[in-house]
Amino acid sequence: MKIQRIATTPIEGMKPGTSGLRKRVTEFAQGHYLANFVQSVFNAVRPPEGFGGVTLVVGGDGRYFNAEAIQTVIRIAAANGVERLLVGAGGILSTPAASCVIRKHKAFGGLILSASHNPGGPDGDFGIKFNAANGGPAPEKITDAIYAETLAIKEIRTLDTPDIDLNQIGSHRLGDTQVEVIDPVADYVELMRELFDFPALRAKFASGLTFAFDAMHAVTGPYAHAIFERELGAPAGTVRNGTPLPDFGGHHPDPNLVHAKELLDLMMSADAPDLGAASDGDGDRNLIIGRGIFISPSDSLAMLAANAHLAPAYRNGIAGVARSMPTSGAVDRVADKLGVPCYETPTGWKFFGNLLDAGRITICGEESAGTGSNHVREKDGIWAVLLWLSILAARGQSAAEIAKEHWATYGRNYYTRHDYEGVDTSAAQGLMSALEARLRGLVGTTVGGRRVAMADNFSYTDPVDGSVSKNQGLRIVFEDGSRIVYRLSGTGTTGSTLRVYIERYEADPARLAQETQEALADLIATADELAGIRERTGRAQPDVIT
Ligand code: G6P
Ligand code: ZN
Repeated sequence: MKIQRIATTPIEGMKPGTSGLRKRVTEFAQGHYLANFVQSVFNAVRPPEGFGGVTLVVGGDGRYFNAEAIQTVIRIAAANGVERLLVGAGGILSTPAASCVIRKHKAFGGLILSASHNPGGPDGDFGIKFNAANGGPAPEKITDAIYAETLAIKEIRTLDTPDIDLNQIGSHRLGDTQVEVIDPVADYVELMRELFDFPALRAKFASGLTFAFDAMHAVTGPYAHAIFERELGAPAGTVRNGTPLPDFGGHHPDPNLVHAKELLDLMMSADAPDLGAASDGDGDRNLIIGRGIFISPSDSLAMLAANAHLAPAYRNGIAGVARSMPTSGAVDRVADKLGVPCYETPTGWKFFGNLLDAGRITICGEESAGTGSNHVREKDGIWAVLLWLSILAARGQSAAEIAKEHWATYGRNYYTRHDYEGVDTSAAQGLMSALEARLRGLVGTTVGGRRVAMADNFSYTDPVDGSVSKNQGLRIVFEDGSRIVYRLSGTGTTGSTLRVYIERYEADPARLAQETQEALADLIATADELAGIRERTGRAQPDVIT
């Protein structure tokens, strides 16, 4: 088969962000945009001996442009000499399932086509990222190398061949490349069966455990139908919005209280099932709502870590935990009690990879609705739900009772995140740099009635490979342990998103049941005062509160 060498020139702005390259579909679909990036990935990761003998996994969240993009990726991979491609049927693989397939089939890595929780459709977003042989997002040294290649690229290697039929499971030959179209769900279901006690969960559903899962018309639909309804016997209808659609049915596939409002309303109503959950566009995030109670992602991480031993995979305890810096310190208290280490990493799942690979941690998570364990190297929405179901089943208590007992034992970290979206980029950067310049001077002063104990721009030294990641967010910690963190999002595609993370620890048993925004009201005001959010952004209110 004749390889086409197409001359091209570098395209600016392809620096991968928190989680790969994310842009508008309109940008991705233009000219050689996607092909330039994919060829740059191959240029950056090419082993000295080439791609002969290499297996690569390819799949995506099924969003608009996924179907065309995956054919482009397949042709470029074949033209670059990849020996074997494992492609999810229909072009589908949830992000955690892709991680699972990479690990199980000992692949060299994978290309995941997704813009996660960002909106889809012709005017929505698209994304692509490279995951390494451990199944996890490429570390910064690889994403930096990919970026360097995007600035030096001269030609794209591809083939002039018809599209491969991805609708049927089966094998195709493309030049020297074997393209295997695989069941996107099977390997993942098998892994979940190993981690959790499916017969026990099945028995609980049979005896009346009730559950609602909102797949948000995104990738988890087929996984949720297979696991919750077929394997565990939950009644049909347990999975809602379970058919993946290229535009997510016009909704925003971000499982938060704003975009999963229907589920929230159900869980706060008299008809609420025992547990409500949702996942995002590519299946790695999770939202957990008990009957009448929202469990914040930071609290969920802490509660999962404290109860993980109730599921077979973690029966012998956990080696350690990790959380991203802006995630609340609730899990730190659990680690303390368990006598295991707790690591604080920058935002982005890739930073957990080394800790998981080295066996230093078993469970990790982020405030951005991601929780996971050492079973794969991505956060995993359905896994988090299965662990919650396992805990409810084993303890025979409601989510509300579990949360209350948790707070009574450990105290409660009241926590909120305020997002200001689509802020003018220079205004957002101006706010950050002005605040950073004042950080040193703040220490020892009193702001909003609290003395500042520490203020810095978070920098992380990876304890496994010693790599250093700077500028990961501005932290202001007060003497009473309260904290305000400011960060600019690395996943947005329009202007800048300012995230303000606010936290206060409460140990008084009489004050554990406050409404979160009220419990944090004075710190929220201090956060505005400190950074001049209103003045600098012109915004009186955040767009999203989580
Ligand atoms: C993605 C990443 C997460 C990260 C989140 C928020 O979901 O996989 O690891 O926490 O984005 O990132 P951002 O930079 O937008 O705050
Ligand atoms: Zn996601």
